Amino acid sequence: MLRLENVTKNYGKFTAVNNLSLQIKEGEIFGFVGPNGAGKTTTLKMIATLLKPSYGKIYIDDFEITSNVKRVRGAMGYMPDFFGVYDNLKVNEYLEFYGDVAGLSHTERDKVIPDLLELVDLKHKEKAYVDSLSRGMKQRLCLARSLIHNPKLLILDEPASGMDPRARVQMKGILKELRRMGKTILISSHILPELSELCTNIGIIEHGKIIECGTVEEIMKKVTKTNVFKIKVLDSADKAERLLLEEPIISDVYVDENHIEFDYDGEEKSIIPIIRMLMNNDIPIISFNPIESNLEEIFMKVTKGEDE
Ligand SMILES: Nc1ncnc2c1ncn2[C@@H]1O[C@H](COP(=O)(O)OP(=O)(O)OP(=O)(O)O)[C@@H](O)[C@H]1O
Ligand SMILES: [Mg+2]
Repeated sequence: MLRLENVTKNYGKFTAVNNLSLQIKEGEIFGFVGPNGAGKTTTLKMIATLLKPSYGKIYIDDFEITSNVKRVRGAMGYMPDFFGVYDNLKVNEYLEFYGDVAGLSHTERDKVIPDLLELVDLKHKEKAYVDSLSRGMKQRLCLARSLIHNPKLLILDEPASGMDPRARVQMKGILKELRRMGKTILISSHILPELSELCTNIGIIEHGKIIECGTVEEIMKKVTKTNVFKIKVLDSADKAERLLLEEPIISDVYVDENHIEFDYDGEEKSIIPIIRMLMNNDIPIISFNPIESNLEEIFMKVTKGEDE
């Protein structure tokens, strides 16, 4: 349904999105994860036809978007990361306004608005001024706005940012409902665990490039399979890194001054010959211990790995 082919976006000399390709099929919920500045918003804006790629092409249902702007906008709802709301409007007037903008007839509009208010749980605020809504409510209103023309593809840029835990849970519930309704959703976040239960697919982006991409199962398998071990040395961290990288069971090594972390496959006891090997090579180890890994840490590592 959505296809990006070698998409690059340059701001002057700076490359925010770098030769990015990905594909999202109908019914998928694709989580786009990456740290601040990774290029998520830039990518989503290009998909939403608000920015033109410097290179590459984007297709929605096989229509190249820059030459079919009107058609693809009709098929897509976009919720930006920051949005202005018209303060002097009431909630229902706000949605009516956007219904008109989207070209709905009054009959269609008046039919769909109550359903949308129900979906985003703002029925009780129908007559409230937009200005008086809490941040979470404004975000839900903005989501309702992006749904007004019943698009089949939703592009949501951090829809739960700045929300308290309860509001996040509620937002997740709404997104699950949209999934049940058969929408295809591209959602960005910098929190991987938050997306893992909601999404079918995950792409991790760093410095404008996709560094991991796959189904949630594939990503989770990668994440939970590896064991992480940490050692501290007095010096010679670089030498230790070189030695560790020669070991077949060690996949990645991360050095932060005298702290070294590495991922290895296999049982815990397979670490013994590795420690021995380091000692035999005069690496001054002063501590070593396994570390429990969680999604957040893996995400930090995956993204840190790209810096090198
Ligand atoms: N209009 C612009 N002009 C110049 N540089 C920009 C512009 N917009 C974004 N950038 C740069 O492009 C990079 C990617 O920004 P982008 O907003 O896409 O990141 P992001 O992944 O959405 O980050 P965040 O998690 O903070 O929302 C950043 O380094 C940013 O400074
Ligand atoms: Mg952003």
